[in-house]
Amino acid sequence: MEQQISALVLAAGMGTRMRSQRAKVLHELGGIPLIVRVIRVLAEFGARPLVVVVGHQAADVEAVVRRHATSSEDLVFALQQPQRGTGDAAWCGLRALGTDFTGDVVLCGADTPMLSAATLAGFTAFHRANSSGLSFVTVRLDEPGAYGRVIRDGSGKVLGIVEARDASPEELSINEVNTGIYLARADFLRQALNKLRPDNAQGEYYLTDLVAIARAERLVVEAWLAPRADEFAGINSRAEMASMEAKIREQVNHRLMASGVSMLDPASVYVSEESEVGRDTFIGPNVQILGRCRIGESVQIEGTAYLRDVTVGDRCHLKLGVRAEQCTIGPDSEIGPFAHLRAGTELEGHNRIGNFVETKKARLGRGTKASHLSYLGDAVIGCDTNVGCGVITVNYDGYDKHLTRIGDRCMVGCDSQLVAPVTIADDVYVASGTTVVHDVPEGALTLSHHPQREKLGWTRGWHKRHRGCGAGGSARAASSQTQGGQE
Ligand code: UD1
Ligand code: CA
Repeated sequence: MEQQISALVLAAGMGTRMRSQRAKVLHELGGIPLIVRVIRVLAEFGARPLVVVVGHQAADVEAVVRRHATSSEDLVFALQQPQRGTGDAAWCGLRALGTDFTGDVVLCGADTPMLSAATLAGFTAFHRANSSGLSFVTVRLDEPGAYGRVIRDGSGKVLGIVEARDASPEELSINEVNTGIYLARADFLRQALNKLRPDNAQGEYYLTDLVAIARAERLVVEAWLAPRADEFAGINSRAEMASMEAKIREQVNHRLMASGVSMLDPASVYVSEESEVGRDTFIGPNVQILGRCRIGESVQIEGTAYLRDVTVGDRCHLKLGVRAEQCTIGPDSEIGPFAHLRAGTELEGHNRIGNFVETKKARLGRGTKASHLSYLGDAVIGCDTNVGCGVITVNYDGYDKHLTRIGDRCMVGCDSQLVAPVTIADDVYVASGTTVVHDVPEGALTLSHHPQREKLGWTRGWHKRHRGCGAGGSARAASSQTQGGQE
Protein backbone atom coordinates (compact mmCIF):
# COMPACT_ATOMS: atom_id res chain seq x y z
CA MET A 1 0.00 0.00 0.00
CA GLU A 2 1.16 3.53 -0.74
CA GLN A 3 2.63 5.22 2.29
CA GLN A 4 0.32 7.89 3.68
CA ILE A 5 1.63 11.41 3.16
CA SER A 6 0.79 14.59 4.99
CA ALA A 7 2.23 18.10 4.87
CA LEU A 8 3.26 20.85 7.25
CA VAL A 9 3.10 24.35 5.82
CA LEU A 10 5.13 26.82 7.84
CA ALA A 11 3.25 30.11 7.76
CA ALA A 12 3.85 31.68 11.15
CA GLY A 13 6.65 34.07 10.24
CA MET A 14 6.28 37.80 9.93
CA GLY A 15 8.08 38.32 6.64
CA THR A 16 10.08 41.32 7.84
CA ARG A 17 11.51 42.09 4.42
CA MET A 18 8.05 42.87 3.02
CA ARG A 19 7.87 45.89 5.35
CA SER A 20 4.16 45.39 5.71
CA GLN A 21 1.50 45.53 8.39
CA ARG A 22 0.13 42.36 6.87
CA ALA A 23 1.72 38.93 7.24
CA LYS A 24 3.76 38.06 4.18
CA VAL A 25 1.82 34.88 3.42
CA LEU A 26 -1.37 36.96 3.02
CA HIS A 27 0.06 39.07 0.23
CA GLU A 28 -1.53 38.22 -3.08
CA LEU A 29 0.09 37.02 -6.23
CA GLY A 30 -2.20 37.15 -9.25
CA GLY A 31 -5.00 37.90 -6.80
CA ILE A 32 -4.42 34.74 -4.74
CA PRO A 33 -2.76 34.89 -1.29
CA LEU A 34 0.65 33.16 -1.19
CA ILE A 35 -0.46 30.72 1.50
CA VAL A 36 -3.52 29.72 -0.52
CA ARG A 37 -1.39 28.98 -3.57
CA VAL A 38 0.87 26.67 -1.57
CA ILE A 39 -2.07 24.90 0.07
CA ARG A 40 -3.78 24.29 -3.27
CA VAL A 41 -0.61 22.71 -4.62
CA LEU A 42 -0.20 20.45 -1.59
CA ALA A 43 -3.87 19.44 -1.74
CA GLU A 44 -3.55 18.62 -5.44
CA PHE A 45 -0.41 16.63 -4.65
CA GLY A 46 -2.54 14.62 -2.21
CA ALA A 47 -1.16 15.57 1.20
CA ARG A 48 -3.64 14.65 3.97
CA PRO A 49 -3.96 15.98 6.53
CA LEU A 50 -2.56 19.39 5.71
CA VAL A 51 -1.22 21.15 8.79
CA VAL A 52 -0.86 24.93 8.56
CA VAL A 53 1.40 26.43 11.19
CA VAL A 54 0.21 29.95 11.96
CA GLY A 55 1.57 32.53 14.40
CA HIS A 56 2.03 36.08 13.19
CA GLN A 57 -1.54 37.35 12.53
CA ALA A 58 -2.70 33.80 13.12
CA ALA A 59 -6.42 34.58 13.09
CA ASP A 60 -6.23 36.44 9.77
CA VAL A 61 -4.12 33.75 8.13
CA GLU A 62 -6.46 31.01 9.30
CA ALA A 63 -9.51 32.96 8.12
CA VAL A 64 -8.05 33.53 4.66
CA VAL A 65 -7.10 29.86 4.31
CA ARG A 66 -10.55 28.71 5.41
CA ARG A 67 -12.26 31.16 3.07
CA HIS A 68 -10.39 29.75 0.07
CA ALA A 69 -10.49 26.12 1.15
CA THR A 70 -12.51 23.50 -0.66
CA SER A 71 -14.19 20.75 1.33
CA SER A 72 -11.72 18.17 0.00
CA GLU A 73 -8.80 19.57 2.00
CA ASP A 74 -8.18 18.01 5.39
CA LEU A 75 -6.94 21.16 7.15
CA VAL A 76 -5.46 21.34 10.63
CA PHE A 77 -4.19 24.58 12.16
CA ALA A 78 -1.30 24.70 14.62
CA LEU A 79 -0.29 27.78 16.56
CA GLN A 80 3.37 28.75 16.91
CA GLN A 81 3.70 31.44 19.56
CA PRO A 82 6.27 33.01 19.76
CA GLN A 83 7.99 32.39 16.41
CA ARG A 84 11.34 30.89 17.24
CA GLY A 85 12.41 29.70 13.82
CA THR A 86 11.49 27.20 11.12
CA GLY A 87 12.51 24.21 13.26
CA ASP A 88 10.25 25.31 16.08
CA ALA A 89 7.42 25.90 13.59
CA ALA A 90 7.82 22.35 12.27
CA TRP A 91 7.74 21.06 15.83
CA CYS A 92 4.42 22.84 16.48
CA GLY A 93 2.99 21.44 13.27
CA LEU A 94 4.11 17.93 14.04
CA ARG A 95 2.46 18.05 17.45
CA ALA A 96 -0.82 19.02 15.80
CA LEU A 97 -0.48 16.10 13.39
CA GLY A 98 -0.79 13.73 16.36
CA THR A 99 1.28 10.73 17.39
CA ASP A 100 -0.83 8.19 15.55
CA PHE A 101 0.27 9.55 12.19
CA THR A 102 3.14 7.33 11.05
CA GLY A 103 3.47 8.13 7.35
CA ASP A 104 5.67 10.56 5.41
CA VAL A 105 5.57 14.29 5.99
CA VAL A 106 6.35 17.04 3.50
CA LEU A 107 7.57 20.23 5.13
CA CYS A 108 7.54 23.47 3.23
CA GLY A 109 7.39 27.21 3.68
CA ALA A 110 4.38 29.23 2.66
CA ASP A 111 6.42 31.57 0.50
CA THR A 112 7.25 29.39 -2.51
CA PRO A 113 4.09 29.99 -4.54
CA MET A 114 5.24 28.67 -7.92
CA LEU A 115 5.66 25.10 -6.74
CA SER A 116 3.75 22.45 -8.70
CA ALA A 117 2.12 19.21 -7.60
CA ALA A 118 3.93 17.34 -10.38
CA THR A 119 7.29 18.46 -9.03
CA LEU A 120 6.33 17.35 -5.52
CA ALA A 121 5.37 13.96 -6.95
CA GLY A 122 8.78 13.74 -8.67
CA PHE A 123 10.50 14.61 -5.40
CA THR A 124 8.48 11.99 -3.49
CA ALA A 125 9.34 9.32 -6.05
CA PHE A 126 13.03 10.21 -5.66
CA HIS A 127 12.79 10.03 -1.87
CA ARG A 128 11.15 6.62 -1.93
CA ALA A 129 13.40 5.18 -4.62
CA ASN A 130 16.43 6.01 -2.46
CA SER A 131 14.86 4.71 0.76
CA SER A 132 15.99 8.02 2.10
CA GLY A 133 15.49 8.92 5.75
CA LEU A 134 15.42 12.62 4.94
CA SER A 135 15.30 14.28 1.54
CA PHE A 136 15.17 17.91 0.59
CA VAL A 137 14.94 19.89 -2.61
CA THR A 138 17.82 22.02 -3.86
CA VAL A 139 18.37 24.25 -6.87
CA ARG A 140 21.41 25.90 -8.40
CA LEU A 141 21.27 29.68 -8.55
CA ASP A 142 23.65 32.12 -10.20
CA GLU A 143 22.99 34.48 -7.34
CA PRO A 144 22.35 32.32 -4.26
CA GLY A 145 21.78 35.40 -2.08
CA ALA A 146 20.27 34.69 1.35
CA TYR A 147 19.38 31.05 0.73
CA GLY A 148 20.88 28.29 2.85
CA ARG A 149 23.88 26.64 1.16
CA VAL A 150 24.11 22.88 0.63
CA ILE A 151 27.36 21.38 1.90
CA ARG A 152 28.52 18.14 0.26
CA ASP A 153 31.66 16.08 0.79
CA GLY A 154 34.20 15.16 -1.90
CA SER A 155 32.07 12.25 -3.09
CA GLY A 156 28.95 14.43 -3.34
CA LYS A 157 27.28 13.15 -0.17
CA VAL A 158 25.19 15.76 1.61
CA LEU A 159 26.70 16.85 4.92
CA GLY A 160 24.45 19.71 5.91
CA ILE A 161 22.86 23.07 5.19
CA VAL A 162 24.46 26.30 6.31
CA GLU A 163 22.39 29.47 6.49
CA ALA A 164 23.88 32.39 4.58
CA ARG A 165 24.22 34.38 7.80
CA ASP A 166 26.23 31.62 9.42
CA ALA A 167 28.30 30.70 6.38
CA SER A 168 32.02 31.24 5.82
CA PRO A 169 33.07 33.10 2.65
CA GLU A 170 34.00 29.76 1.13
CA GLU A 171 30.56 28.30 1.91
CA LEU A 172 28.88 31.41 0.55
CA SER A 173 30.45 30.74 -2.83
CA ILE A 174 28.43 27.49 -3.12
CA ASN A 175 25.57 27.95 -5.54
CA GLU A 176 23.47 24.89 -4.66
CA VAL A 177 20.83 26.13 -2.23
CA ASN A 178 18.11 24.75 0.02
CA THR A 179 14.56 25.45 -1.22
CA GLY A 180 13.04 24.78 2.19
CA ILE A 181 11.09 21.69 1.07
CA TYR A 182 11.75 18.46 2.94
CA LEU A 183 10.36 14.95 3.17
CA ALA A 184 10.82 12.51 6.06
CA ARG A 185 8.92 10.01 8.14
CA ALA A 186 6.90 11.38 11.03
CA ASP A 187 8.69 9.24 13.62
CA PHE A 188 12.12 10.49 12.54
CA LEU A 189 10.90 14.09 12.68
CA ARG A 190 9.44 13.59 16.16
CA GLN A 191 12.74 12.68 17.71
CA ALA A 192 15.02 14.81 15.49
CA LEU A 193 13.15 18.10 15.97
CA ASN A 194 13.63 17.59 19.71
CA LYS A 195 17.36 17.83 19.21
CA LEU A 196 17.46 21.24 17.51
CA ARG A 197 19.32 23.94 19.40
CA PRO A 198 19.20 27.70 18.69
CA ASP A 199 22.98 28.17 18.56
CA ASN A 200 23.31 30.25 15.41
CA ALA A 201 23.50 33.85 14.22
CA GLN A 202 19.75 34.42 14.64
CA GLY A 203 19.30 32.47 17.88
CA GLU A 204 16.53 30.46 16.20
CA TYR A 205 15.65 26.82 15.87
CA TYR A 206 16.70 26.03 12.31
CA LEU A 207 14.84 23.30 10.45
CA THR A 208 17.91 23.03 8.27
CA ASP A 209 19.83 21.44 11.15
CA LEU A 210 17.75 18.29 10.57
CA VAL A 211 20.20 17.34 7.87
CA ALA A 212 23.17 17.18 10.21
CA ILE A 213 21.05 15.34 12.82
CA ALA A 214 19.99 12.71 10.31
CA ARG A 215 23.58 12.31 9.16
CA ALA A 216 24.74 11.83 12.74
CA GLU A 217 22.18 9.05 13.07
CA ARG A 218 23.54 7.44 9.91
CA LEU A 219 20.31 7.87 8.05
CA VAL A 220 20.37 8.22 4.29
CA VAL A 221 20.07 11.94 3.49
CA GLU A 222 19.48 12.88 -0.12
CA ALA A 223 19.25 16.25 -1.80
CA TRP A 224 17.15 16.33 -4.95
CA LEU A 225 18.44 18.88 -7.42
CA ALA A 226 15.16 20.08 -8.95
CA PRO A 227 15.09 20.42 -12.72
CA ARG A 228 13.26 23.76 -12.70
CA ALA A 229 14.73 26.31 -10.34
CA ASP A 230 12.05 28.94 -11.03
CA GLU A 231 9.38 26.84 -9.30
CA PHE A 232 11.19 27.27 -6.00
CA ALA A 233 11.69 30.99 -6.00
CA GLY A 234 10.76 32.22 -2.55
CA ILE A 235 9.04 35.55 -2.02
CA ASN A 236 10.77 37.76 0.50
CA SER A 237 10.24 41.27 -0.81
CA ARG A 238 7.78 43.34 -2.80
CA ALA A 239 10.21 43.55 -5.69
CA GLU A 240 10.32 39.74 -5.89
CA MET A 241 6.54 39.74 -5.73
CA ALA A 242 6.26 42.13 -8.68
CA SER A 243 8.67 40.18 -10.85
CA MET A 244 6.83 36.92 -10.12
CA GLU A 245 3.53 38.65 -10.88
CA ALA A 246 4.94 39.67 -14.26
CA LYS A 247 6.02 36.08 -14.96
CA ILE A 248 2.59 34.70 -14.15
CA ARG A 249 0.92 37.34 -16.31
CA GLU A 250 3.19 36.52 -19.21
CA GLN A 251 2.42 32.80 -18.88
CA VAL A 252 -1.34 33.39 -18.78
CA ASN A 253 -1.25 35.74 -21.76
CA HIS A 254 0.83 33.32 -23.81
CA ARG A 255 -1.53 30.49 -23.03
CA LEU A 256 -4.53 32.60 -24.02
CA MET A 257 -2.96 33.82 -27.24
CA ALA A 258 -2.01 30.24 -28.11
CA SER A 259 -5.65 29.28 -27.62
CA GLY A 260 -6.91 31.94 -30.04
CA VAL A 261 -7.28 35.18 -28.07
CA SER A 262 -5.90 38.40 -29.60
CA MET A 263 -4.21 41.08 -27.55
CA LEU A 264 -3.12 44.36 -29.00
CA ASP A 265 -0.53 44.84 -26.26
CA PRO A 266 -0.10 41.81 -23.96
CA ALA A 267 2.12 43.86 -21.65
CA SER A 268 -0.93 45.84 -20.56
CA VAL A 269 -3.38 42.94 -20.24
CA TYR A 270 -3.89 41.38 -16.81
CA VAL A 271 -5.90 38.16 -16.80
CA SER A 272 -6.18 36.08 -13.64
CA GLU A 273 -5.20 32.41 -13.88
CA GLU A 274 -8.74 31.43 -12.92
CA SER A 275 -10.42 33.35 -15.73
CA GLU A 276 -11.35 31.93 -19.11
CA VAL A 277 -11.38 33.78 -22.41
CA GLY A 278 -12.93 32.32 -25.56
CA ARG A 279 -11.57 32.09 -29.07
CA ASP A 280 -11.38 35.10 -31.38
CA THR A 281 -11.90 37.46 -28.51
CA PHE A 282 -9.95 40.68 -28.84
CA ILE A 283 -8.48 42.43 -25.81
CA GLY A 284 -7.28 46.01 -26.20
CA PRO A 285 -4.79 47.82 -24.00
CA ASN A 286 -5.07 48.37 -20.25
CA VAL A 287 -7.56 45.62 -19.48
CA GLN A 288 -7.89 43.75 -16.19
CA ILE A 289 -9.84 40.50 -16.14
CA LEU A 290 -9.74 39.40 -12.51
CA GLY A 291 -11.17 36.84 -10.14
CA ARG A 292 -13.15 34.20 -11.99
CA CYS A 293 -14.28 35.75 -15.23
CA ARG A 294 -15.81 33.79 -18.10
CA ILE A 295 -15.38 35.76 -21.31
CA GLY A 296 -17.02 34.18 -24.33
CA GLU A 297 -15.94 33.90 -27.96
CA SER A 298 -15.56 36.78 -30.41
CA VAL A 299 -15.92 39.38 -27.68
CA GLN A 300 -14.47 42.81 -28.37
CA ILE A 301 -12.91 44.56 -25.38
CA GLU A 302 -11.74 47.91 -26.72
CA GLY A 303 -9.58 48.83 -23.73
CA THR A 304 -9.36 50.31 -20.25
CA ALA A 305 -11.69 47.82 -18.64
CA TYR A 306 -11.84 46.40 -15.13
CA LEU A 307 -13.77 43.14 -14.95
CA ARG A 308 -13.97 41.03 -11.81
CA ASP A 309 -16.00 37.83 -11.52
CA VAL A 310 -17.94 38.67 -14.65
CA THR A 311 -19.47 36.40 -17.27
CA VAL A 312 -19.54 37.91 -20.74
CA GLY A 313 -21.46 36.13 -23.49
CA ASP A 314 -20.28 35.54 -27.04
CA ARG A 315 -19.99 38.46 -29.45
CA CYS A 316 -20.37 41.17 -26.81
CA HIS A 317 -18.77 44.51 -27.46
CA LEU A 318 -17.25 46.22 -24.43
CA LYS A 319 -16.39 49.73 -25.46
CA LEU A 320 -13.73 51.87 -23.86
CA GLY A 321 -14.02 52.26 -20.09
CA VAL A 322 -16.19 49.49 -18.66
CA ARG A 323 -16.08 48.59 -14.98
CA ALA A 324 -18.05 45.47 -14.11
CA GLU A 325 -18.05 43.31 -11.03
CA GLN A 326 -19.96 40.14 -10.10
CA CYS A 327 -22.35 40.32 -12.99
CA THR A 328 -23.50 38.53 -16.09
CA ILE A 329 -23.59 40.11 -19.51
CA GLY A 330 -25.58 38.01 -21.95
CA PRO A 331 -24.46 37.43 -25.55
CA ASP A 332 -24.50 40.10 -28.27
CA SER A 333 -24.62 42.98 -25.80
CA GLU A 334 -23.01 46.35 -26.21
CA ILE A 335 -21.62 47.98 -23.08
CA GLY A 336 -20.08 51.43 -22.64
CA PRO A 337 -18.20 53.55 -23.29
CA PHE A 338 -17.88 54.49 -19.61
CA ALA A 339 -20.40 52.14 -18.05
CA HIS A 340 -20.44 50.86 -14.48
CA LEU A 341 -22.04 47.47 -13.91
CA ARG A 342 -22.09 46.71 -10.22
CA ALA A 343 -22.69 43.45 -8.37
CA GLY A 344 -25.89 41.63 -9.20
CA THR A 345 -26.33 43.05 -12.69
CA GLU A 346 -27.76 40.39 -15.01
CA LEU A 347 -28.22 41.17 -18.66
CA GLU A 348 -30.02 38.42 -20.55
CA GLY A 349 -28.53 39.23 -23.94
CA HIS A 350 -28.78 41.66 -26.87
CA ASN A 351 -28.70 44.46 -24.32
CA ARG A 352 -27.24 47.89 -24.65
CA ILE A 353 -25.83 49.77 -21.67
CA GLY A 354 -24.45 53.06 -22.86
CA ASN A 355 -22.29 55.85 -21.52
CA PHE A 356 -22.61 56.97 -17.91
CA VAL A 357 -25.09 54.28 -17.00
CA GLU A 358 -24.73 52.62 -13.60
CA THR A 359 -26.51 49.38 -12.77
CA LYS A 360 -26.70 47.47 -9.50
CA LYS A 361 -28.76 44.37 -8.71
CA ALA A 362 -30.54 45.00 -11.98
CA ARG A 363 -31.97 42.26 -14.18
CA LEU A 364 -32.59 43.31 -17.75
CA GLY A 365 -34.46 41.05 -20.18
CA ARG A 366 -33.36 40.34 -23.71
CA GLY A 367 -33.09 43.36 -25.97
CA THR A 368 -33.61 45.97 -23.25
CA LYS A 369 -31.56 49.15 -23.56
CA ALA A 370 -30.38 51.98 -21.33
CA SER A 371 -28.23 54.04 -23.61
CA HIS A 372 -27.36 57.18 -21.69
CA LEU A 373 -26.93 58.63 -18.21
CA SER A 374 -29.06 56.36 -16.04
CA TYR A 375 -29.04 54.74 -12.63
CA LEU A 376 -30.77 51.37 -12.48
CA GLY A 377 -30.51 49.88 -9.00
CA ASP A 378 -32.66 47.11 -7.48
CA ALA A 379 -34.61 46.76 -10.70
CA VAL A 380 -36.18 43.96 -12.69
CA ILE A 381 -36.85 45.01 -16.25
CA GLY A 382 -38.46 42.86 -18.95
CA CYS A 383 -37.56 42.41 -22.61
CA ASP A 384 -37.32 45.00 -25.39
CA THR A 385 -37.86 47.91 -23.06
CA ASN A 386 -36.19 51.23 -23.75
CA VAL A 387 -34.90 53.14 -20.77
CA GLY A 388 -34.46 56.72 -21.90
CA CYS A 389 -31.68 59.15 -21.13
CA GLY A 390 -31.44 60.22 -17.51
CA VAL A 391 -33.89 57.70 -16.05
CA ILE A 392 -33.35 57.03 -12.36
CA THR A 393 -34.68 54.29 -10.13
CA VAL A 394 -35.18 55.97 -6.79
CA ASN A 395 -34.38 52.86 -4.80
CA TYR A 396 -33.27 54.23 -1.43
CA ASP A 397 -35.49 55.98 1.10
CA GLY A 398 -32.70 56.70 3.53
CA TYR A 399 -33.17 53.45 5.43
CA ASP A 400 -34.10 50.69 3.02
CA LYS A 401 -33.66 49.75 -0.63
CA HIS A 402 -36.78 49.08 -2.71
CA LEU A 403 -37.47 47.29 -5.95
CA THR A 404 -38.57 48.78 -9.26
CA ARG A 405 -40.28 46.45 -11.74
CA ILE A 406 -40.72 47.37 -15.37
CA GLY A 407 -42.43 45.05 -17.86
CA ASP A 408 -41.77 44.13 -21.48
CA ARG A 409 -41.83 46.59 -24.41
CA CYS A 410 -42.01 49.72 -22.26
CA MET A 411 -40.81 53.18 -23.24
CA VAL A 412 -39.48 54.95 -20.19
CA GLY A 413 -39.10 58.54 -21.25
CA CYS A 414 -36.03 60.67 -20.60
CA ASP A 415 -35.46 62.23 -17.20
CA SER A 416 -38.05 60.10 -15.41
CA GLN A 417 -37.74 59.04 -11.80
CA LEU A 418 -39.26 55.76 -10.70
CA VAL A 419 -39.86 55.97 -6.96
CA ALA A 420 -39.59 52.43 -5.60
CA PRO A 421 -41.25 50.24 -4.60
CA VAL A 422 -43.14 50.58 -7.86
CA THR A 423 -44.28 48.35 -10.70
CA ILE A 424 -44.72 49.40 -14.29
CA ALA A 425 -46.57 46.69 -16.24
CA ASP A 426 -45.97 45.62 -19.86
CA ASP A 427 -46.33 48.03 -22.79
CA VAL A 428 -46.38 51.13 -20.63
CA TYR A 429 -45.29 54.50 -21.95
CA VAL A 430 -43.78 56.77 -19.34
CA ALA A 431 -43.76 60.30 -20.67
CA SER A 432 -40.46 62.10 -20.34
CA GLY A 433 -39.95 63.98 -17.10
CA THR A 434 -42.46 61.88 -15.17
CA THR A 435 -42.03 61.09 -11.49
CA VAL A 436 -43.67 57.69 -11.14
CA VAL A 437 -44.87 57.24 -7.57
CA HIS A 438 -47.43 54.47 -7.94
CA ASP A 439 -47.92 51.35 -10.07
CA VAL A 440 -48.87 51.77 -13.73
CA PRO A 441 -51.20 49.23 -15.40
CA GLU A 442 -50.48 47.46 -18.67
CA GLY A 443 -50.68 49.49 -21.85
CA ALA A 444 -51.09 52.88 -20.11
CA LEU A 445 -49.46 56.21 -20.73
CA THR A 446 -48.35 57.80 -17.51
CA LEU A 447 -47.35 61.42 -17.19
CA SER A 448 -46.92 63.92 -14.40
CA HIS A 449 -46.20 67.04 -16.39
CA HIS A 450 -47.19 70.49 -15.36
CA PRO A 451 -48.96 71.83 -18.41
CA GLN A 452 -46.65 74.01 -20.45
CA ARG A 453 -47.53 77.74 -20.44
CA GLU A 454 -45.98 80.84 -22.06
CA LYS A 455 -45.79 84.41 -20.80
CA LEU A 456 -45.27 86.43 -23.94
CA GLY A 457 -42.60 89.14 -23.78
CA TRP A 458 -41.50 88.05 -20.34
CA THR A 459 -37.77 88.22 -21.06
CA ARG A 460 -37.80 91.91 -21.80
CA GLY A 461 -39.26 92.65 -18.34
CA TRP A 462 -36.77 90.36 -16.69
CA HIS A 463 -33.81 92.24 -18.11
CA LYS A 464 -35.39 95.51 -17.15
CA ARG A 465 -35.88 94.49 -13.55
CA HIS A 466 -32.30 93.48 -13.24
CA ARG A 467 -30.52 96.22 -15.12
CA GLY A 468 -32.81 99.13 -14.66
CA CYS A 469 -32.55 99.80 -18.39
CA GLY A 470 -34.73 98.57 -21.20
CA ALA A 471 -34.14 95.73 -23.54
CA GLY A 472 -31.05 95.46 -25.66
CA GLY A 473 -28.48 93.58 -23.52
CA SER A 474 -27.66 90.19 -24.82
CA ALA A 475 -28.95 87.16 -23.01
CA ARG A 476 -25.38 86.15 -22.31
CA ALA A 477 -24.57 89.45 -20.61
CA ALA A 478 -27.68 89.04 -18.51
CA SER A 479 -26.85 85.54 -17.46
CA SER A 480 -23.32 86.45 -16.51
CA GLN A 481 -24.78 89.04 -14.15
CA THR A 482 -27.21 86.61 -12.59
CA GLN A 483 -24.72 83.74 -12.52
CA GLY A 484 -27.04 81.87 -14.84
CA GLY A 485 -29.21 81.11 -11.83
CA GLN A 486 -32.85 80.28 -11.92
CA GLU A 487 -35.60 82.55 -10.80
C1 UD1 B 1 14.62 29.22 4.92
C2 UD1 B 1 15.74 28.22 5.16
C3 UD1 B 1 16.80 28.39 4.08
C4 UD1 B 1 16.19 28.24 2.71
C5 UD1 B 1 14.99 29.15 2.54
C6 UD1 B 1 14.25 28.81 1.27
C7 UD1 B 1 15.85 27.89 7.57
C8 UD1 B 1 16.59 28.20 8.82
N1 UD1 B 1 16.32 28.44 6.46
O1 UD1 B 1 15.16 30.52 5.08
O2 UD1 B 1 17.83 27.42 4.24
O3 UD1 B 1 17.17 28.51 1.73
O4 UD1 B 1 14.06 29.01 3.62
O5 UD1 B 1 13.19 29.69 1.03
O6 UD1 B 1 14.90 27.14 7.61
N2 UD1 B 1 8.34 30.43 9.62
C9 UD1 B 1 7.51 30.05 10.67
N3 UD1 B 1 7.92 30.26 11.95
C10 UD1 B 1 9.12 30.83 12.25
C11 UD1 B 1 9.96 31.23 11.19
C12 UD1 B 1 9.54 31.01 9.88
O7 UD1 B 1 6.41 29.53 10.44
O8 UD1 B 1 9.40 30.97 13.44
C13 UD1 B 1 7.87 30.21 8.23
C14 UD1 B 1 7.74 31.49 7.46
O9 UD1 B 1 6.41 32.03 7.58
C15 UD1 B 1 8.03 31.06 6.03
C16 UD1 B 1 8.95 29.84 6.21
O10 UD1 B 1 8.82 29.43 7.55
O11 UD1 B 1 6.87 30.67 5.32
C17 UD1 B 1 10.39 30.17 5.89
O12 UD1 B 1 10.81 31.20 6.76
P1 UD1 B 1 11.78 32.36 6.28
O13 UD1 B 1 12.01 33.27 7.41
O14 UD1 B 1 11.30 32.93 5.01
O15 UD1 B 1 13.11 31.50 6.03
P2 UD1 B 1 14.33 31.91 5.11
O16 UD1 B 1 15.16 32.88 5.84
O17 UD1 B 1 13.86 32.24 3.77
CA1 CA C 1 11.91 32.60 2.74
